[in-house]
Amino acid sequence: MEKINLTEMKEESENLRELINQHNYQYYVLDYPQISDQEYDKLMQRLIYLEAEYPELIADDYPTQRVGGQIAEGFERVNHITPMYSLANAFSPDDLRAFHTRVINGLGTTEVEYVVELKIDGLAINLTYEQGRLISGTTRGDGQFGEAVTSNIRTIKSIPLRLKNESKAPEILEIRGEVYMPRKEFIRLNNERSAAEEPLFANPRNAAAGSLRQLDSSITAGRALSMFAYGIGSRDGLRLETHFELLKFIASLGFKVNEKYMVFNDIEAVIEYCLSWEDKRHALPYDTDGLVIKLNSLEGQALLGTTAKDPRWAIAYKFPAEQAVTTVEAIEVGIGRTGVLTPTAVLKPVHLAGSTVSRATLHNADYIKNKDIRLGDTVIIHKAGEIIPEVIAVLTEKRRGNEAEFVMPEQCPECGQKVVREQTEAAYKCVNQLCPAIQREGLIHFVSRDAMNIDGLGPAVITNLLSAGIVQEPADLYKLTPDRVSCLERMGKKSAQNLIAAIAESKQRGLGKVLFGLGIRFVGAKAAAVLAKHFGDVDKLAIADFAQLTAIPEIGSKTA
Ligand code: IVH
Repeated sequence: MEKINLTEMKEESENLRELINQHNYQYYVLDYPQISDQEYDKLMQRLIYLEAEYPELIADDYPTQRVGGQIAEGFERVNHITPMYSLANAFSPDDLRAFHTRVINGLGTTEVEYVVELKIDGLAINLTYEQGRLISGTTRGDGQFGEAVTSNIRTIKSIPLRLKNESKAPEILEIRGEVYMPRKEFIRLNNERSAAEEPLFANPRNAAAGSLRQLDSSITAGRALSMFAYGIGSRDGLRLETHFELLKFIASLGFKVNEKYMVFNDIEAVIEYCLSWEDKRHALPYDTDGLVIKLNSLEGQALLGTTAKDPRWAIAYKFPAEQAVTTVEAIEVGIGRTGVLTPTAVLKPVHLAGSTVSRATLHNADYIKNKDIRLGDTVIIHKAGEIIPEVIAVLTEKRRGNEAEFVMPEQCPECGQKVVREQTEAAYKCVNQLCPAIQREGLIHFVSRDAMNIDGLGPAVITNLLSAGIVQEPADLYKLTPDRVSCLERMGKKSAQNLIAAIAESKQRGLGKVLFGLGIRFVGAKAAAVLAKHFGDVDKLAIADFAQLTAIPEIGSKTA
């Protein structure tokens, strides 16, 4: 790019700086981010790019030139003995390869080893020990000065107040790690807050940050925070050669070190390991937002040194976005095959986890009420892997006063019959068995992959069959002929024949699939398979009584 439109670039970078400063304040000072990390990263990446193109634009008080954050009022400001650096980000395998190239060029050798650790999604903490005793715990703050949150830190049980094997530690030791809130605790805390009608935390990281910055440490103590240690401030006086040894050393002092770290001597293996966590991480009991790749040799680390903000010997590999901020444009209510009314938020389209999202589930009326989700609200949405996106929190401070509360319709939006709400359930239901939506959803389920798995019979064809009046229930499918279906929209002779052949072929699926496909309440895929195996044919099952059914170990009384 040529440096011709300098004025424009200058203006853009000014705007970006202002925006980033505002978001920094929201994130670090108020613990209340207005945008997702990925959106923030994008702004930052753009600014870094502009400043790289036009170094003449940089001044040292700019957001790109510091480690991050400001100090909240209410806690003592302390100077970190050793600065707390941040990490540069990698968003793709190529970014990791580029990092590796910088490392081998910097060291002048291709023989390098990396330690790869999980990047825990919490907040960085510095712990200072003097003669083996914990004397202070501080947040990272701006990297040079942090906030002393010592009495809160002392409530975290995974942090030793006194070091184990104290004689092996230097007089003064700074331990670095990530304080986080386990997912289970986050859910418990939000349930408690919801019951008390207090605002909910958007995610475990905000909950951890909010909990650690309480002026009353008894509040912190009531929240099960934890910490993984991953580094040491200054290594003076310690005879360690690798980061791997360093991790073993801090574990021997009594710290919790995350056990998922691995050592590699090949960047492609590093990449493979990073990618392998993209799905696996959802099974962990805590949130991770990526992995951290660190040069194993401590001598090599010293040789490469740091830039103004981050070490050159480490990089964070970030997983694709899982959260985004958008607005609720409408709330639609759909009917499921059991008649349950399910509200869905229609969103302003937003890019999230590799696709464009324009709808998110709102589950049920209670969910909307507990989160106080209103039409027009600015919300945080979340999507993990294949999971349907959901609205997880409202940014209430973005309200302008014209947001409308949602009310469940009193009549079924499809058949117009009065909706009922069973006392013990969160769900509103349409109980009209002839409701076209229930018929349609029931048929869609019947032909779906885990049930009868009928090729070529998607929701659109089902809808056409229903509206043509030639199918009402699953049994009708097996009476169809090519002639009858070829009158449907977009159904040629050949497709009609294929469809009938696929329906006929589904007769081979067996009783278990049929039972599951019928969508009998409480009979999931497993119970259906058990029943099919036990009775062998449908006539025997049809005459079985309660006692015969409950005699089957896997069948409970509710199902029976
Ligand atoms: S090392 C100089 N290791 O990620 C090295 N950081 O984006 C500094 N984090 O500020 C950090 N897990 O809060 C390191 N295993 C890990 C980490 C980790 C989470 C956080 C930490 C840091 C941020 C940088």
